[in-house]
Amino acid sequence: MSLEARRDPRPVRRSFLPTSLLPASLPAAVRSRIPISRVPQPPEEKMAPTWRQARPSRIAASLAAAQATNSGGWLVAGVSADVPASTSITRSIAGREVVFWRASDGTLVAGPGACPHLGALLDRCAVVGDTLFCRWHGYALEPAGDRTWSPYRAHDDGVLIWVGLPMPGESPTDRPALPPRPPLGGAVTAVMVEKGICEPQDVIANRLDPWHGAWFHPYSFSHLVVDESASNDRVLTVDVMFRLSRTWGIPVRAEFFCPDARSIVMLIVDGEGAGSVVETHATPVGVDANGNSATIITEATIAYSERSGFRLAHWLAPALRPVMRRTARRLWVDDLVYAERRYRLRNLGEYPE
Ligand code: FES
Ligand SMILES: [Fe+2]
Repeated sequence: MSLEARRDPRPVRRSFLPTSLLPASLPAAVRSRIPISRVPQPPEEKMAPTWRQARPSRIAASLAAAQATNSGGWLVAGVSADVPASTSITRSIAGREVVFWRASDGTLVAGPGACPHLGALLDRCAVVGDTLFCRWHGYALEPAGDRTWSPYRAHDDGVLIWVGLPMPGESPTDRPALPPRPPLGGAVTAVMVEKGICEPQDVIANRLDPWHGAWFHPYSFSHLVVDESASNDRVLTVDVMFRLSRTWGIPVRAEFFCPDARSIVMLIVDGEGAGSVVETHATPVGVDANGNSATIITEATIAYSERSGFRLAHWLAPALRPVMRRTARRLWVDDLVYAERRYRLRNLGEYPE
């Protein structure tokens, strides 16, 4: 039986959000434009199985296409706001200690995280003007470096910070390959960071399997169908109902694609919030004492809408951000189980090909 034939046959009834679910302070014009649909969540026995579409070879081909993309050695290192004006921070990235600070004009600086004098970790060091002063004996480091210390490439895209490191098989580029983003001034942005025992490819492979969405995350998705006519190894186009509750949902069409080998983006192309993106970046940390790889997942949700009502959401951003982070984290609790399981099976040589 085809997937279409197995879709929940009950009619999708578009409606307005029940008044009881909307803040009383919302203007009537806004209340009337919020497009949600009454689509009850189907029970498992009414849901179409998706395992036939989620062929291991199909997911592997998409992953291979992503991994063939030159990432230029760029790795996401955190959130722009993590780097203050007058102090340094450090991160472990791809087996290296990396220090970050800001020059006096705000430009991001990155470099090896060990002091050239006696090796102090250059974390929480004072920054005055452009200069970082080591906490141990005051060794001064400049953004341009010197014969003892050479900076890495660094980029602040306004939401996330990146560092350019020598990575096997990658040719250095001037800038990371950023996906299209809505105008940040009119968007609500939230970033979630999680750590998993896996490699970046396990994180990317999880998202290159959209077919697990309605089965594994029924609290967030239902009625998920991959539009094969608009999909290939480079892009997966998905029609899905974002769940607000067991009764109400918001229908959207989204594209998944990989701008580099360690990043995957979900772009809402139609429906509420068109233009919004969820960027998932996987950054290798290194290998622990047991020989296991750790990966940091940095997920930026940049929510946007042309609707006038969204201006209200923008004003409510401080309250919305924790909700957006909680939603992303809940998904990633499950998705990390998937990614870590894939990593473990690969190490055992038991992952189905
Ligand atoms: S270890 Fe940095 S100045 Fe001595
Ligand atoms: Fe998932």
